[in-house]
Amino acid sequence: MQQATTNGTQFETPAEINVETLVRDDKIHASLYTDPHIFEQELEKIFYRVWVFVGHDSEVPEPGDYVTRQIGRQPVLMVRDKAGAVSVFLNRCAHRGTLVCPAESGNARAFTCPYHGWTYDLSGQLTGVPFPGAYGPDFNKGDHHLPQVARCDSYRGFVFASLSPEGPSLEEHLGIASRLIDRACDLSPEGELDLSAGWVKHRYMSNWKMIPENDTDGYHLGFVHRSVLRSAGSQYQLFIGEESGNKGLLRDWGNGHTEIEFSSGYQQPFEWFGGAPDKYAAYLAQLEHSCGKTEADRRVFEGPPHALIFPNLFLAEMNIALFYPLDAEESIQWHTPMFLKGVPELNTRLLRQSEAAMGPASFLLPEDITIASRNQAGLHARQPEWLDLSRGRNREYVDEAGRVVSHFTDEVTNRAFWKHYRTLMAQA
Ligand code: FES
Ligand SMILES: [Fe+2]
Repeated sequence: MQQATTNGTQFETPAEINVETLVRDDKIHASLYTDPHIFEQELEKIFYRVWVFVGHDSEVPEPGDYVTRQIGRQPVLMVRDKAGAVSVFLNRCAHRGTLVCPAESGNARAFTCPYHGWTYDLSGQLTGVPFPGAYGPDFNKGDHHLPQVARCDSYRGFVFASLSPEGPSLEEHLGIASRLIDRACDLSPEGELDLSAGWVKHRYMSNWKMIPENDTDGYHLGFVHRSVLRSAGSQYQLFIGEESGNKGLLRDWGNGHTEIEFSSGYQQPFEWFGGAPDKYAAYLAQLEHSCGKTEADRRVFEGPPHALIFPNLFLAEMNIALFYPLDAEESIQWHTPMFLKGVPELNTRLLRQSEAAMGPASFLLPEDITIASRNQAGLHARQPEWLDLSRGRNREYVDEAGRVVSHFTDEVTNRAFWKHYRTLMAQA
């Protein structure tokens, strides 16, 4: 069994190391965050196989609308075709490999490669080649289309792609965690989200795994976010201080999907939106009209999910975030406010709240990525080799839905992330 060791000067991690041996039930090896060989294996075994969140239906509402994204290092193009279907292509010209679409988003009738002008229609077919006479009779445009990802599927507007033709379906991958996406969508009186506000991007110096781990880590809240908790009122104040009571829970939803459940600590409807239910009477009336009073009351009490959909989608309450790995020690996170269809006045407030809470001059996300970068920097010290993940193992339990649950400050969600990671990395 190969295993990373330290000789005092560097970790020895051969390219063929069995990464799964570095993840134990209650600890992980520090090289998982720093080793470039491990990072390359993660691209192959995670990002190029599993279902990765690419974008949302609402970002490409009209035929010809497109956005460009990445799956691991591979550039992709999500586009709505003339018939209204959304497809995901590799963003690579079939001629010599140039990015066919260098823009981040827009609307196009066709995609013309900027290098030699090969042109593709919205379904990826090659329709035009400049000066075609120089190609012989065997040249067939049908052989030179934009490559599609192996599989593309969506759930309630969230578009996912897998670069592997095999493996679990999206439905199987999401499992019961699809309920977390439902919880977000069902806050809209129309049952749909709108992620068209644009994305703010944060580039930072840490391994990609630190952010999904942090997203559903309750333990750090009162420390990393102390400044925002001191300077602005928010629902999070309910969850810090003495570790007592049953305020907030962590849940492992399976397949690496994890959650902080805040609503068990809420005291009134709309706690997740600053309280003051009377401010939202018009929204509540619309929601009641769509689903009935009892259900509407439940939804506005419970609020949005705070959950990770493995590996790269964060349902960040009234924001949506995604992240990309760049290399072993650098990543990028995007976020956008989660608008609810049918309530534009609420969305205006959401936009302001998102700017104040998540943007580069704000608190929450900058604080999280700052601590992630410091975490990464600390790992350059090579002792101790193993990081502890044992917090709360003695008090976690399985609930009636089969989810492992524990106290808000425990590490059940981190263990859930790593357990799934180990399963994926152990595959041939
Ligand atoms: S690389 Fe695209 S046309 Fe030549
Ligand atoms: Fe945080």
